[in-house]
Parts: sequence; structure tokens; C-alpha cells
Amino acid sequence: MSVPIVRTVAELRATVAEWRREGARVGVVPTMGALHEGHLSLVRAALAKAERVIVTLFVNPRQFNSAADLAAYPRTEEVDAEKLAPLGAHILYTPDAGEIYPDGFATAVTVSGVSEGLCGAFRPGHFDGVATVVAKLFLQTAADLAFFGEKDFQQLHVVRRMARDLDIPIEIAACPTVRESDGLALSSRNVRLTPEERQAAPRLASILFASAARIVDGRPVSAVLAEARAAILEAGYRNAEYLELRAEDDLKPLEVFDRPARLLAAAWLG
Ligand code: PAF
Repeated sequence: MSVPIVRTVAELRATVAEWRREGARVGVVPTMGALHEGHLSLVRAALAKAERVIVTLFVNPRQFNSAADLAAYPRTEEVDAEKLAPLGAHILYTPDAGEIYPDGFATAVTVSGVSEGLCGAFRPGHFDGVATVVAKLFLQTAADLAFFGEKDFQQLHVVRRMARDLDIPIEIAACPTVRESDGLALSSRNVRLTPEERQAAPRLASILFASAARIVDGRPVSAVLAEARAAILEAGYRNAEYLELRAEDDLKPLEVFDRPARLLAAAWLG
């Protein structure tokens, strides 16, 4: 069975209205396509909690910082639809750009606080683009539940804050990062790594896990982070934009490990 593809808000809304009449709970998994096992794990989580599941596929130009990155972003709609079909997702909503940003579109959603620092410091406008498109996708799908990966931990916080602040009645579920057997987090962009880069890539995860263990053991956070930065460069990464210990619940920077926390990093390879 194939997954029905919907391209307009009107068609999407008509289908969701029908589902609501049947009393179904609706889940949404927002994606930019090039689906991998990480996305599929979100779809499975959605299917376990909602009777109807919409997967959205929209490569959102407003969240890219470079035209080259946007142009190189993998686009594999047909293959994505094939991957979704056996799972039982109910709709693949892949709107044309005009359904998201119609002529004259003049609104942007800015989330302060949690979007500052980390990726927010290095990718100006990125989280405005994410918050704006996700707000639109929440309103267009009118879903009850949305599923996001913890891989983009800051994005998860931005989306939660946005939905809470705008009174969008949706529950946001966070799902664990899915990794290759060597530890590399699955990402649509991994296909752009050369074989050498692909070999070096999992070192970032192993350095983070080792550093987390040392922090849990009581080593001083600043010393562990300094050594980890050096190890990331030694592993072949071009630079580490940031490497920080942040509180899990509100993303506050931590110099001392005294509450549940995450080590968050962004580093360039190639
Ligand atoms: O995580 C992503 O793939 C994107 O940032 C999202 C949430 C689909 C918004 O475009």
C-alpha cells in the first residue's frame, strides 16, 4: 500500500476534519525529507500514540543559512513515500512553497531565550525559520501530538516554547537520537560526507559520551570540555562551534553538574 500524498492545506484540513469526526487522535512528524531510521522511529512513536499520523515533508528555505546548503539538501520524495508506506503512516503532507509562504507572507515567529546561544549564535535566523514553519505546520495539521528527535535538542526546546507561548493545543513528544552502530547520529546530511569524513564522524559522539562519563564521575566541567574540544579537532573536525553543558529542562548553561544535563556540540567536518 502506498501512502497518500497531500499537497494543499485545503485537502489536508478536509481529511483531518473527517478523522476528527471519527474521534481519532492525530499525530504529526515534521520532516524535511530524506527520511532515515531516525525519522522512521518518530513515525513509529506517533503511530503508537495516535490513530492517524501525518508526516510532513517541506524543505524550509527560511531555516537555511546558506544557499549552497539549501541547494545541496537531499530531496528524495518518492523514496521517502516508499519508506513510509509499510509503516502505515496515513498521509505524507508535502506542501508546495506557496502553501507555506504565500505571496506577501510577512510573519515570522521569534522565540527568545532558548533559541539564543548554541546553534542560535552560529546560525542567525535559523530558529526563526524553524519556529515559523513549525507553527504553520501545527496550525495546518491541527494535530494533537507532535514528535521531534532529541538530536536537535535546542530545536525541541524552541518548538516547545513556541507552542506553549502561542497556545497551540499540541503535545510535543521527544524521541531519543537514533545512531549508526558506530555511534554516528543519523542525519539526512550524512550522505554528504566523503568516505574519509564518514570514518572520522563517529568520534564526535564517542568524545561526547566519554566526556559525559567523566563529568558524571565528578571531574571539573571546564577541564573536561577543554579536553573534549581538543579531541574533536584531533579527530579531524575542522572546528567545534560550541561544546557546552546545558540543563536538560531549560537549556541554562551549567558550569557545575548539579542537575540533569546534556552535553551539546556542533562541529564541522568537510
Ligand atoms: O528537524 C527538521 O527536520 C526541521 O527543522 C523541521 C522541524 C522539519 C522544520 O523544518
